[in-house]
Amino acid sequence: MRVLIGDPDATLEELYAPPRLPWLRANMVSTLDGAATGADGRSGSINNAADKQVFDLLRRTCDAVLVGAGTARAEGYGPAARPIVVVSRQGGVPPTLRAAQRGRVLLATCAAAPDLDEAVGMLGVEQVLVCGDTEVDLAGLVGALHARGLRHLLCEGGPRLLADLLAAGLVDELAATYVPALVGGVGPRITAGAPLDVRASPHLLLEESGTMLGRWWLNRPDVRGPGARG
Ligand SMILES: NC(=O)c1ccc[n+]([C@@H]2O[C@H](COP(=O)([O-])OP(=O)(O)OC[C@H]3O[C@@H](n4cnc5c(N)ncnc54)[C@H](OP(=O)(O)O)[C@@H]3O)[C@@H](O)[C@H]2O)c1
Repeated sequence: MRVLIGDPDATLEELYAPPRLPWLRANMVSTLDGAATGADGRSGSINNAADKQVFDLLRRTCDAVLVGAGTARAEGYGPAARPIVVVSRQGGVPPTLRAAQRGRVLLATCAAAPDLDEAVGMLGVEQVLVCGDTEVDLAGLVGALHARGLRHLLCEGGPRLLADLLAAGLVDELAATYVPALVGGVGPRITAGAPLDVRASPHLLLEESGTMLGRWWLNRPDVRGPGARG
């Protein structure tokens, strides 16, 4: 990959290393016209080999993957090398994660979740994090994951979970890929929900076959990183 901003001699793993722990990175992909999915409603139809290379690297190097239940359902998430933490107000465990080995899937939900008892029966009480009464307290969730030693967190979306994490000021970094395609339609953007005002500063920019991959720090002017300029 061509390094446009960042250290041209660093490996990809070095270029994407977290500058400190704890660290919460969100990784999202978008087309040039801002779509977060293709016509089939999945991000799998817009990503490509360069995006997949970084997606796999970020999964491999994190402590746990945070994902909204909507994305886990839409994308058919299965168990991964790192624990998958599904965030759900309803407390439902996505079907494709139900047969996972104990400990590979955690559910973050709230006390009022209608499917809470079923989730506890399916995953075991240790794997169900009840954060908040009627809403999932995302700061409480992040704190609970840190307390378990899961300090390098990767959020893979979706747009509603990402927007809520951003609104709560919990996201340190956005890793975003822009694929060289336009798809029109009415697909979602990488965030959804109420207006946000989050400022970003670039720390890394890579290019491969027209795909642009970058890292932006979000409201973290104090933290320098491996891709920093100057
Ligand atoms: N381009 C990309 O990089 C990318 C990445 C991820 C997803 N996507 C696409 O985005 C689409 C899904 O969008 P989405 O906005 O529905 O995704 P989402 O945020 O993953 O899912 C929404 C659902 O997740 C749970 N959730 C989200 N935020 C929550 C919060 N703060 N507290 C409690 N539960 C929360 C709720 O689940 P319950 O209904 O179970 O309560 C909610 O209904 C799919 O088409 C997917 O392919 C694209």
